Parts: sequence; C-alpha cells; structure tokens
Amino acid sequence: MAKSKLNYLQIVKLLGKHHQQHLLAFYDQLDSHQQNALLDQIRELDFKAIPGWIEQYVLNGSPMVVPTELEPAPYYPARPDKALAAQYDKARMRGEELIRTGKVAAFVVAGGQGTRLGFDGPKGNFPISPIRKKTLFHLFAEMIAATVAKYGAAIPWYIMTSPQNHQATLDIFESEGYYGLNKADVCFFQQGTLPMFDLSGKILLAHQSAIATGPDGHGGSLKALHVSGVLKDLKRRGIEYLSYWQIDNPLVKILDPLFIGLHDLDGAEMSSKTLIKAHPLEKVGNFCVVDGRVNVIEYSDLSDEQAHRKNLDGTLTFELGSIAIHILSSSFVEQLNAKGCGLPLHRAVKKIAYIDERGNPIQPDKPNAVKLETFIFDALPLANKSIILEILRSEEFAPVKNASGADSPEVTHRMMIERAATWLQSAGVAVPRKADGSPDATIEIAPSFALGPEDIAAKLDRIPPLSPGESVYLE
Ligand code: UTP
Repeated sequence: MAKSKLNYLQIVKLLGKHHQQHLLAFYDQLDSHQQNALLDQIRELDFKAIPGWIEQYVLNGSPMVVPTELEPAPYYPARPDKALAAQYDKARMRGEELIRTGKVAAFVVAGGQGTRLGFDGPKGNFPISPIRKKTLFHLFAEMIAATVAKYGAAIPWYIMTSPQNHQATLDIFESEGYYGLNKADVCFFQQGTLPMFDLSGKILLAHQSAIATGPDGHGGSLKALHVSGVLKDLKRRGIEYLSYWQIDNPLVKILDPLFIGLHDLDGAEMSSKTLIKAHPLEKVGNFCVVDGRVNVIEYSDLSDEQAHRKNLDGTLTFELGSIAIHILSSSFVEQLNAKGCGLPLHRAVKKIAYIDERGNPIQPDKPNAVKLETFIFDALPLANKSIILEILRSEEFAPVKNASGADSPEVTHRMMIERAATWLQSAGVAVPRKADGSPDATIEIAPSFALGPEDIAAKLDRIPPLSPGESVYLE
C-alpha cells in the first residue's frame, strides 16, 4: 500500500510538535507551486531522527567517541620484498583479468560543494593539467578511454552529484560531448541531502519556499547507489567492484590492477589506499585497527600522544594516512543497504546563507549553522575483510582542495609535472632539471600516451629531446 502523504494541517501539527513551525512562516505569500514544493521538502525530512540529531550534534557538539585502544593497521607496502613481489604479480594479473572481463566500474564522488577552492561550478570542471589546461572531468574521461583501449572492455563510469550541482554537471558533459566516451557508459546519480540547523536547533530556510539543505557527505554515496538504482545497473552489467575516488585528485590511478587484484584475492569487501603521513599531524584520517576492524580516525580525533607515538625503529605508530581511494564490492554495498546503511553523522559548523524571520536574506560573516554529513570511511569497520595498500604520494595523490597554500592548484600542478618527469626518466629519457632538482621543463603526459611509467618505454620514438625551459605535451 502506498504511504499516505501528510496534508497541510498534519504538517503544521508535525512542525509544531518539533518546534519547527517557522518553516511555514512565509507559506501564505507563496504561489501554489512554491507551496507544494515546500510541503514536499518538509515531507522528506526525517522527523524520527531529527530530534536526536539536534540533541546530539547541534546542541551538544560532536558526540564522536574515539576509542582509546587503537592499534596500527596492517598494510601492503608500496615497495614489496621478494616474496610479496610474487604475490603482487599474481594480484596484478587477477586485477587485469577482472578489468578485461568487465567486472570493475569507475566511481567518482563529485557532489561536494568545493567551498575551500572557491571555484564557480562543479569542481570537476576545474582546469588543472599543466599545458592543455584539461579539467578534472576531462582527465578522468581520458583515463577511462585509455583503460578501455588497453583492456578492450567497456568500463562504465558512475558519477555521483548532488542536487546542488547535478544539472551543471550534466550540462558540462553534454557540451563536451561526454569527452568522447560512450554516453551509455557514463551514468550520473544524485546523493541525498540533509537539512542545515542554526545553533539552537532550528532548521534554516534558504528562502521563503525552500529549506536550506546540503549534500549528505561522501558517505551518502553508499545509500545513493541503492536508492538511485545503480546497484541494479551493476548487477545487470555483471559488475562486482567499484573503484572509488574523489573528484579533486588528478593523479589517481582510476583502475589499478594491483589494488583490485589484492582486494579480490584476499576476499575483501572494502579496501583502501594509504600513504605514509608527511608528519604526525598531517590533516588526513588515520588508518587504525579497533576491535580487530580497520577504522579511520580523523586527524582532529587522534590525541597528541597517539599522533606522535613512535615504534622502536623510530617510525610513527599511526603513520598511515587515508586518501579516499577505495575498492567497494557491490555485494558489500548491497548488504549495507539491506541493513539501512546507518553510518554515523559528523557535524561541521559553517557559514550558511539563510533568511531570517522577517524574510531578509542573511550572508553570515561567521559560522552560524550546523551541517551534518556521513563519511565513506565509516563503512570500513562494517566490512568483514578490508585490505590497505600503500602508494607513493608523488605517484598518486595531489588533491586540489584550497585556492592557495597546501593542496592548492599550484601544488597539484607542480606534482603533475614532477610525476611526468619521473615517468620519462624511468624509461631513460633525459629531463633537464633546475638547481633545486625540479624539472626545468613543463611536461604533460596525456592518459592516451601513458597511464603509468610502464607505458613509456614502447613510445620512446615519439618523445622529442627536452631542452631547458621547454613545454612538451605527449599524447
Ligand atoms: P571534500 O571533503 O573536499 O568536500 O570532499 P567538498 O564539499 O568537495 O569541499 P569543501 O570542503 O566545501 O571545500 C571530498 C570528495 O567528496 C565529494 C567531493 O565532491 C569530493 O570529491 N563529496 C563531498 C561528495 O560527493 N558529497 C558530499 O556531500 C561531500
């Protein structure tokens, strides 16, 4: 039987019970279309959960309880010893077979608001490559096309957006002709949203006819995969694994045979890539083991003592940083959804525009609202088996987060050039370098030319000699 829709009077009563009647303060001034839209938005609110959220997250700050008994997480090192090298070879072959037989899909989460970067429009449209200024979306599309060409298999690409940027993202792909990809293999779906609260627990209005909402975090992807029908699509296509990454990292290896193979051969349900932190307080989550399960503990939740703790050999005890690259088994995502996909919420206090009780638009100059989000890594302890593979930062991780300083386009740009130079040198190409060791050339390697250093050797005849100060684009 279809769920009956609450009518206006029932909604008034419900809001009164929850001290949220201000949401209808401007109702009488709206046209009928706006009235219906507002009522629909209110019907979507989870009033079973909202009182608990207000109590726990809005009025009482973060209730996150950080376990005291943390152990370092085991991991596969980036540089294996001999015995492990044989296992890596086997895993790589298995990963390649899984890609070739169409068992792996690409999955990027791109629903965030990118406020720190301050770029107008979806972050995926940010131009990042050093010479051609290709956007993040463009680079990932080229990586997919190159992987399809390498393995001869269709690779569907799932792109999660949010209501805040969905249409803009679709428009970009339409106007770019899907970057030459097969349109049927580029699948967009939207994540859910959560209401924003003022610091006293009142839900904010964005304008007279709409509640202020924000995307429900990258953890929302797990639920959205189900709600949007992607899980069904995966089944239809015979896909077993999703290779997950975030929109801001142009160095990502979107489908890494070694990572996929290790995940598969170990029977893992959700796996992660890691890097060794640059320093104890680096602002990345920390892989730890709690009660026998892999967890990510946020940098802000690790005590100073834990962050600085050292092993006998002088290395950090908690040295593994999380870089938000995962393999998800689709069966694991299905099981999570069968159990309601209840990831914990995290709170952030942010500056959120709203309208006040008189209907005046307010642009706050200090944080005024609580935004709630779920994080993908909170699914890790729910996995029966979870492996971690170390990668080298210079090879795979250069996120664009901030407009300047750390994790800014300038740093990413530099790292893209450095990686290209290293790949060329590993194949014996001479790269001019400055006195400080950095490349004295601007080099851009298109994914169609090489997806990794191993693809360079076969193309040496297409690489011109590099002179100091030159720009070289290889495709
Ligand atoms: P960030 O944590 O960098 O958040 O997201 P953000 O919203 O993009 O940027 P800021 O914090 O406002 O500056 C990491 C990744 O998770 C995605 C982002 O698109 C990015 O790929 N994400 C984040 C979502 O898909 N949905 C969300 O609700 C939040």
